[in-house]
Amino acid sequence: MTTAPRILVINGPNLNMLGTREPEVYGYDTLDDIETRCRAVTDEAGAVLDWMQSNSEAVILDTIHQAVGNADWIVINAAALTHTSVAVRDALAMFSGGKIEVHLSNTHTREAFRQTSMISPVANGVVMGFGAMSYIMAIRGILEMARETETHG
Ligand code: DQA
Repeated sequence: MTTAPRILVINGPNLNMLGTREPEVYGYDTLDDIETRCRAVTDEAGAVLDWMQSNSEAVILDTIHQAVGNADWIVINAAALTHTSVAVRDALAMFSGGKIEVHLSNTHTREAFRQTSMISPVANGVVMGFGAMSYIMAIRGILEMARETETHG
């Protein structure tokens, strides 16, 4: 892996509504705001950031398939699909790069159905509960790991 990793951020259903969607849970940042903040971090590091959102499980599956060989890391907020989608989990399992699951909210403090993640067992790491900062922490963590790999092999 290089010092300037290629990072693909995948956002699942309803995240296009951030800003107005249950702001008491998810905050007032729009998804565009979050992307802008993430891009500032990757631009400064010289890393490549690809960013997508879809309300369609099929589009998310196709995006993960296309990431094979084209991305070093996937950061994924699969939103509601986190709790239901064996298909997203299986797609992530075949991606051999790094995988970080992110959530704005701490799903463990919420309804029982949100406390199971199909994705966590195939992820290298999970960041949740920091609002928009969860994404930034995931990306900073990836960049830090890439630097460590460069320094210590
Ligand atoms: C979420 C948590 C999920 O339970 C929910 O369905 C979402 C957003 C989060 O980022 O906190 O859509 O993934």
